[in-house]
Amino acid sequence: MRSLLLVVVVLLTACSTSQHDAELNSANTLQDALWQQGQDEFIRCVACHSVEAGSNTEFGPHLHQLLGRKLAGLDDYLYTEAVKQIDLVWTEEVLDAWLAKPQQLVPEMCLPFTGMRSAEARQALIAYLKGQ
Ligand code: HEC
Repeated sequence: MRSLLLVVVVLLTACSTSQHDAELNSANTLQDALWQQGQDEFIRCVACHSVEAGSNTEFGPHLHQLLGRKLAGLDDYLYTEAVKQIDLVWTEEVLDAWLAKPQQLVPEMCLPFTGMRSAEARQALIAYLKGQ
């Protein structure tokens, strides 16, 4: 009787562990899908921006570890004066607001990019940038 109880306990434990794993896996898959979508969205930016550390392009500053950076915060990129005057930090919220209405938040920056209306697409691009 005691060993039967033990078997039941072991089975239950095994079962809940694999369910937990399955939940974790599906969370990872969702996260991967979002990241993948974000990488696709980055096509809007890739002409001017790299996500590699220290790789400013001829057309724009690199976006490596962007989250937490101050606007115009890289020492090795020559920003325009107008952009340097604006005081903001690239948090997820700021990035979302900027991606929605870039020209409202930082006029003249990143033209011809004029914004992304889809909140889902913005979240995907933010997830992608966060992973760099
Ligand atoms: C046509 C080129 C171009 C495109 C396309 C473009 N950008 Fe930019 N971006 C720039 C330039 C140039 C700057 C530097 C601004 C300045 O000094 O005036 C900049 C600056 C930035 C900054 C500020 C970086 C910092 O160091 O504070 C962010 C963030 C940014 N771009 C994100 C994006 C994203 C995301 C996209 C795509 C949705 C994008 N840009 C599309 C040219 C571009």
